[in-house]
Amino acid sequence: MVLDADILVRRAREALATPDPAQAVADLLREAITAEPAALRRALRDGDPSSQPIAALGMRVLVDSAELTMFHTSLPPGFVNAPHDHRTWAVVAVYKGEEHNVFYARQAASIVPVAALRAGAPRVVVMRDDAIHAIANTLPRPSYAIHAYGGAHFHLARSMWHPETLREEPRDDEVFRGWCRDMIARGAQLPDVPA
Ligand SMILES: [Fe+2]
Repeated sequence: MVLDADILVRRAREALATPDPAQAVADLLREAITAEPAALRRALRDGDPSSQPIAALGMRVLVDSAELTMFHTSLPPGFVNAPHDHRTWAVVAVYKGEEHNVFYARQAASIVPVAALRAGAPRVVVMRDDAIHAIANTLPRPSYAIHAYGGAHFHLARSMWHPETLREEPRDDEVFRGWCRDMIARGAQLPDVPA
């Protein structure tokens, strides 16, 4: 696949017109991270004004639209966040390192952890609209992934759950980031999920 960030976004947009956009985007990203990982890394670097190495890319938004959001993200070692939902399908394509996921189910007014998935590169995770999860990087090195969502991920009203009380609250990015900073500072870990 000849690849640059624009082509990746264009092909993801084309996938939106298929009967199962999440699966089509997952197939596209699986191809990108397995068949052409070097091309993917080049594509993500190109267009970045500082032409920084992939290790320093961090968060780079590829598209932020009503129908599709895609970004590159790097999680440092020790990263952990609080349970949250997306309200759209989500596809996470881990191409280096690992994103550890814990999935939750609603129970009464709260949530309970029900499944875990260590998504080690190269791995694509597909989540449906009602998925609730939290992620962590438990490896001693950064993880790298492309995240795609079937809607305006940065602007949709959605939910977050307090990491201690697991009480549902409307998503507030400032508060959520504060929770994450606290969790990381105290070395919080995601719960073990019984097999
Ligand atoms: Fe998420």
